[in-house]
Amino acid sequence: MEKEALIKKLQWFYFLELNQVNLYLAQSRQVDDFYLKQTLLRIAEVEQGHVENIKAKLAYLGASPAFVGEKVAPLTGMMGGLVTGMAGTIAILKANIDLEEKAMKDYKDFILRVGKDDELFEMLWDHLIDEDLHTAWFTNKVKELEKIMEIKE
Ligand SMILES: [Fe+2]
Ligand SMILES: [Fe+2]
Repeated sequence: MEKEALIKKLQWFYFLELNQVNLYLAQSRQVDDFYLKQTLLRIAEVEQGHVENIKAKLAYLGASPAFVGEKVAPLTGMMGGLVTGMAGTIAILKANIDLEEKAMKDYKDFILRVGKDDELFEMLWDHLIDEDLHTAWFTNKVKELEKIMEIKE
């Protein structure tokens, strides 16, 4: 991949990851389920790790994390006040799954473009697997909550 295109791609991921950090931190303050709160904080730390990794790669290429035009806002802009009730929690978890799946898709595409011999290969795989684990946890939590709601009905 050409250096300019590579920088642009990394800048996009920097923006995406930073959005994930901010989103999960905001959510951790908005949910009342303590296990979920702790999980969101832990996932935000992992996303912060992704931010740092990408920042380091950009620095190595002599670039900085500039703003990118593409928007993640439709996915992340929905966090207003307190998330109340199980239905609210399920809704934010589903939005998180969408965001994680978007990240996974972009990482997979990026991996295919850089190839096995590129020095970014391992980092991209690490991030992809982390996002996959986040998706799995969120999905599992949705199932758990939906089951509880069914019992209550
Ligand atoms: Fe991430
Ligand atoms: Fe993630």
